Amino acid sequence: MTGFHAFAPATVANVGPGLDILGLALAGRGDVVSAFPGGGGRLVIRASGHPELSSDPGRNTAGIAADGVRKRAGASSMGVVLEIRKGLPLSGGQGGSAASAVAAAFATNALLGSPLSRAELLEPCLDAEEAVSGRHADNVAAALFGGVILIRSVDPLDLVALAFPRDLLVVLAEPDQRVSTGDARSRLPSDVSRGIALSQAANVGALVAALASGDFDLLRRSVDDRIAEPARAGLLPGFPEAKAAALEAGAFGCSISGSGPAVFAFAAGQAMADGIGEAMREAYASRGVRAATRVASVDPAGARLLSSEES
Ligand code: HSE
Repeated sequence: MTGFHAFAPATVANVGPGLDILGLALAGRGDVVSAFPGGGGRLVIRASGHPELSSDPGRNTAGIAADGVRKRAGASSMGVVLEIRKGLPLSGGQGGSAASAVAAAFATNALLGSPLSRAELLEPCLDAEEAVSGRHADNVAAALFGGVILIRSVDPLDLVALAFPRDLLVVLAEPDQRVSTGDARSRLPSDVSRGIALSQAANVGALVAALASGDFDLLRRSVDDRIAEPARAGLLPGFPEAKAAALEAGAFGCSISGSGPAVFAFAAGQAMADGIGEAMREAYASRGVRAATRVASVDPAGARLLSSEES
């Protein structure tokens, strides 16, 4: 019997001020997970997709999510064999662990005859993310649903799909660096002052309004993160210079993508996006850091099944 192949896209978590509560799906690259029958009643990872990723299903986000789907579907004794293909870097700030979890959940659900709805796949993906890097739903929710997602609450899960301008482009800079999400999360302050809390709340509200109305000047002002960015900038040589260069080149806001090292900047129009990308690469180079950039629109669809030819 043939398998089911699912794709889940890269994501930009936080989107500036929305630490753990805003996520955005990027068109283009992502992870692909195939689920096949077999395994003699067990869940087996036949290909982990990267030498540094475990083939132990209990220690791999794809395995944890797939197992959660089996349990929720009442199909724990059904064997599933997974093959993971990583299109996203490890520790790259592009939601790679979330994309693997989401694609695995999607493919496994299809193999089982789609007993769970798309929304019901979120919890097992969140459990998988929690096992490797803390309970935050911004990457998994955006990878699963696509678009721009606000996580109003994690327990219980309550998500809001946000309106966004269709001409919005994201310039993603990928410096030649690695940041473990665990390390980056350990840098976050456990408490913040009232002034910072109010500033973050105001900027998240303004950012939601800017996306809904297409007000790019307001967007630029609202990508202002006083919590994670100052705490993590020290982990990211070249980031302050790249951010300054992006804003100088006209970006409608720039900040760390998730826990880094990737950095995102907003743009409208390919020429503007290309100019921002070039400025960011040059800024990194001035600090001796190699960086690639790519330009992507927002992926409105999120996870999806691929045909055998596409996979
Ligand atoms: N919201 C998470 C964080 C994303 O910033 O730690 C990690 O990819």
